[in-house]
Amino acid sequence: MTRRLGVMTRDCAGINAALRAVVRTATGRQAEVYGIIRGYDGLIDGELRPLDRRTVSGIINLGGTILKSARSERFLTEEGQLQAVRMIENHKLDGLIVIGGNGSLTGAHLLATKYGFQVIGIPATIDNDLGQVDQCLGADTAVNVALDALDKIRDTATSLERIFVVEVMGRECGYLAMKVALAGGCEDVILPEQDFDLNEICQEIQAGNAQGKVSWIVIVAEGKARAQDVATAITLLTGLETRIAVLGHIQRGGRPTAIDRILGAKLGWAAVEALLAGENDKCITLKNEEIIPIPLEMVIKPKKLVFEPEYRLLKLLS
Ligand code: F6P
Repeated sequence: MTRRLGVMTRDCAGINAALRAVVRTATGRQAEVYGIIRGYDGLIDGELRPLDRRTVSGIINLGGTILKSARSERFLTEEGQLQAVRMIENHKLDGLIVIGGNGSLTGAHLLATKYGFQVIGIPATIDNDLGQVDQCLGADTAVNVALDALDKIRDTATSLERIFVVEVMGRECGYLAMKVALAGGCEDVILPEQDFDLNEICQEIQAGNAQGKVSWIVIVAEGKARAQDVATAITLLTGLETRIAVLGHIQRGGRPTAIDRILGAKLGWAAVEALLAGENDKCITLKNEEIIPIPLEMVIKPKKLVFEPEYRLLKLLS
């Protein structure tokens, strides 16, 4: 039986690699694939285009998504959802693969549970905050992109003997902040998962300063504090000159790392196989190289990460 699959994406590194795997696996199994342009907005508007092996050539190394993406306000309404379902029916899609983070996968879960549509998710977000998912697509590239920026900031921090406060993305999750801080050899990190004491940080800076230590880098997770507020407080309490850098969206772009390309290939392949095998309302994950479909309901619940051991190591080595 020929099947018609739809695929839509959010944006982050590794998504194009996953898309290539979805299309090539599906066409190899005699299924047709339709790319939905601009996510749920494109689904509502019926913006679909057929994808074949050639349309996904030369994209494995590209960041972002060739399908484009959008945050859809309309899909949050009942009217928007019904229009999306009408479009799915009009285009005779009998399965959908959704590649994205919490918002995208919440929409996928809704299509499966409220409207009875067959859906499989692929976890992709730089925040790496999805429940039960060890490694989301895009997170490894984001850590490496932020680390590259941090290494450059360190050149100035060292040369000019300054304190830098660097804010990284991640929403309510400190994954990106913790990994970047540890890999970047930073002096401290402020995380949503842990309390922090600015007085203590400043006392450490002053004590270090008295012994000749002149440059510091403190990473701040956006979900916990703002770099500007932390920097202002440090200058006020220590009298030392402080600069900030907010890395922003550069963390979501860039050439995917080998880890993200390989993860994308595996997840894309496994998502199609799961869909064709009749799985529904699941998210594809990898655990010890094993492909595991997890109910979307569990994946869209934020995960609780514990960073104390890594934080202790950072403090020990700083
Ligand atoms: O969820 C990914 C993410 O990049 C977060 O880290 C960040 O808080 C948010 O998206 C930014 O959203 P937008 O691109 O809509 O500004």
